[in-house]
Amino acid sequence: MSKERILVTGGTGYIGSHTTVELQNAGYDVVIVDNLSNSNVEVLDGIEKITGKRPAFVEADCTDLAAMQKLFADYPGIKGIINFAASKAVGESVEKPILYYRNNLNTLLNLLDIMGPNGVKGIVFSSSCTVYGEPDVNPVTEQSPIKKATSPYGNTKQISEEIITDVITSGAPFKSVILRYFNPVGAHPSAEIGELPNGVPQNLIPFVTQTAIGIRKELSVFGNDYDTPDGSCIRDFINVVDLAKAHVIAIQRMLEDKSQDKIEIFNLGTGIGLSVLELIESFERATGVKVPHKIVGRRTGDIEKVWANPEHANNVLGWKAETPIDDTMRSAWAWQCKLRERGIM
Ligand code: NAD
Ligand code: WQD
Repeated sequence: MSKERILVTGGTGYIGSHTTVELQNAGYDVVIVDNLSNSNVEVLDGIEKITGKRPAFVEADCTDLAAMQKLFADYPGIKGIINFAASKAVGESVEKPILYYRNNLNTLLNLLDIMGPNGVKGIVFSSSCTVYGEPDVNPVTEQSPIKKATSPYGNTKQISEEIITDVITSGAPFKSVILRYFNPVGAHPSAEIGELPNGVPQNLIPFVTQTAIGIRKELSVFGNDYDTPDGSCIRDFINVVDLAKAHVIAIQRMLEDKSQDKIEIFNLGTGIGLSVLELIESFERATGVKVPHKIVGRRTGDIEKVWANPEHANNVLGWKAETPIDDTMRSAWAWQCKLRERGIM
């Protein structure tokens, strides 16, 4: 018999697909809703290959309240929601702010609206280290100051956290766990699922793997004159499967009422700051494949350095990022090779 039914919005996307795998492995009954705006329905095949079970799938837009109401009628008994559905390209959000505010905020509002009447006990929300901006002190804790957002995307995360807080404070009959991800990277070790960027990747790892396989000629390292040991920016790169596992713990925590608090916030990172150049070295060491790269000027708006203090999640959730970075790089490479094998890239 399955455990409770969980709705995963954005479940065919990068983090949602890995989380669905972990939820199914833990025995949960998953329903995915996705409008496939940034993912592919074949992701369900990968999930099925890994877990032996195909999750229920509804192709719908979470901003469509009627469609969401129909989903709740068709799949009764949903006890928890993990809300991944959002538009996430920082640069695009500057060009299309209305799209970003509409998609990310209306999705959240619809879910919060629909939860109470349907008896849903809790919602896990995908937030981001972007809320800390350029921190004054590293590593950042959940109490570190929230900085004014530098993009509409970042602002949707800040506003979403405020919306959730206001709704819970108003006495809504459910709980929320807000998870602030640092930089999710890598793929499932089976190479059946992974990240599938649209067009030219904006994020580091997809650019690294696409350069290594020859799709891109050269990786541009944006700046080596930062105030860091090797001059390149520092991030906290968190393995996507480790990240996915934290969601299972968070959902279970709400369903079992383990916390007195109706709203909780956790940083999800490794606690280790790694520079862009160190990450390239890790990839080359782990895979034996060279990544042609050159140093270019800084990217506008980049954060110099940010990494997490994950102790709150370690102590309270009993969760810890455990995958060594070289293993993560190998998984990212295996996924890129699988895409090539399938003729996708
Ligand atoms: P993704 O684009 O791979 O997944 C998001 C999924 O949501 C996609 O499958 C997309 O088709 C779907 N979607 C978007 N809008 C929708 C809508 N209105 N209705 C239904 N489906 C919709 O992104 P991801 O990297 O898996 O990110 C998941 C969440 O985590 C997002 O909220 C993102 O902002 C957040 N996050 C991501 C990162 C990161 O670096 N990947 C970091 C911090 C936070
Ligand atoms: C990492 C580092 C680049 C590409 C973004 C979002 C943020 C959050 C996480 C969602 C930076 C450098 C990159 C390249 C490079 N997402 N780089 N050459 O900037 O930490 O944050 O993802 O919430 O909101 O902004 O991630 O992967 O783009 O960059 O040198 O071709 O790699 O300068 O230092 P970032 P990223």
